[in-house]
Amino acid sequence: MLLNKDAFGEDFIWGVSTAAYQIEGAHNHDSKGLSIWDVFVKRKNKIFQNQHGDIACDFYNRYVDDLYLMHSLNIPNYRFSISWSRILPNGTGEINQKGIDFYNRLIDLSLELGITPWVTLYHWDLPHALESKGGWVNRDVKEWFGNYVSMCVQHFGDRVKNWMVLNEPVVFTGAGYFFGVHAPGRKGLGNFLAATHHAALSQAYGARIIKSIQSDSCVGTTFSCSHVEPFRAIEKDMLAARKADALLNRLFIEPLLGMGYPTQDLKILNRIEKYIQQDDERDLKFDMDFIGIQNYTREVIRYAPFVPWLQAKIVSAKKRKVEVTAMNWEVYPASIYHVLKKFSAYENMPPLMITENGAAFQDEVRDQQVNDSKRKTYLKDTIAQVLRAKQEGVKVNGYFVWTFLDNFEWAEGYHPRFGLVYVDFTTQKRIVKSSGYWYADFLSVRSSKH
Ligand code: NOJ
Repeated sequence: MLLNKDAFGEDFIWGVSTAAYQIEGAHNHDSKGLSIWDVFVKRKNKIFQNQHGDIACDFYNRYVDDLYLMHSLNIPNYRFSISWSRILPNGTGEINQKGIDFYNRLIDLSLELGITPWVTLYHWDLPHALESKGGWVNRDVKEWFGNYVSMCVQHFGDRVKNWMVLNEPVVFTGAGYFFGVHAPGRKGLGNFLAATHHAALSQAYGARIIKSIQSDSCVGTTFSCSHVEPFRAIEKDMLAARKADALLNRLFIEPLLGMGYPTQDLKILNRIEKYIQQDDERDLKFDMDFIGIQNYTREVIRYAPFVPWLQAKIVSAKKRKVEVTAMNWEVYPASIYHVLKKFSAYENMPPLMITENGAAFQDEVRDQQVNDSKRKTYLKDTIAQVLRAKQEGVKVNGYFVWTFLDNFEWAEGYHPRFGLVYVDFTTQKRIVKSSGYWYADFLSVRSSKH
């Protein structure tokens, strides 16, 4: 299929996404406070080969060159996140002017280069000082977060119009507070449910604060979404798939739409009641300007009687012998189409944006070039599936590639490379991959001929 950017319409938003902890480095420079990730990576054997984001892509010091590179690749929109502990080292209280200055410079140069900033307020790096007070398990996090959000809008709102409140809440609550494999490394159902409720409250509260300060802002929030299918067409697997879907795809969007938590399909969620206070149900709801969909693969689910409260498990892509990425995720571009159809079927669903999509593959540098044909194919095939949904009437207004630069992939460290631009982490040299040149070409005026 010939892929033509023009088919998406002139207003369609094209861009790339990154996140502060994954690229910035400078983890303790210029009076930045520590975040839960700065602390978590120092714990033994939590991260692949005990790697960390202390330096990462050194974006804090190299953002000028990196933004010029982005500009040279015709990228018109840049989604990045603000590090909470860089601007409020203790999470609340005193402001770190040097942190504010950094984001001011980043925003100003983006605008100067004709790149529109899209700011994520929380991409998983809670100030460590707040984790010491209970982090997302403590209901006070809602006020701490609200205060931080209002700081950001007051300082940057004269130039930033597009905001995303949270990045993938089910991942940071699940991996960080249930499984303990992400920062802050806490475990258990109680921690998870409390963190979930407080994050759901904060996603609406943060949005309300942005709107109250900047009424013409464009506010959204992002969700990890995977098309879920039963392994076999039998009742037990279908039920297991429904439960997994409630957990993976519906846990945060439904309360935001005013539907409450998906307790019908996942009974254990009734236990969240313990954390719900008067007026919370009303406060969980907010009419966002857009919803950010982040999709990478699909999940195939089977009945698993011994898995507590879920009785469901993922049948890995390896077991199913399908093509996988370096994350061992199935290459399945149609997942994004199904997810877009599913989300758009909700009543009162705001317009959708793909705020992340991409793939990690084993990249090789040869003669100073990276010919990542698999990534190129993956991106083309997935973008074609977005177009398919759009042509069927789904309101989808944008697409951001994850990600611009190879970076620190959380517990996986640096080995999965998702970037359009290759980074040599010893020299910090950047090499645009062939997928990067392809995207640049696709985004250029000449793209209509491709
Ligand atoms: C989702 C997260 O938002 C991002 O931080 C991560 O690197 C990508 N997916 C790839 O796993």
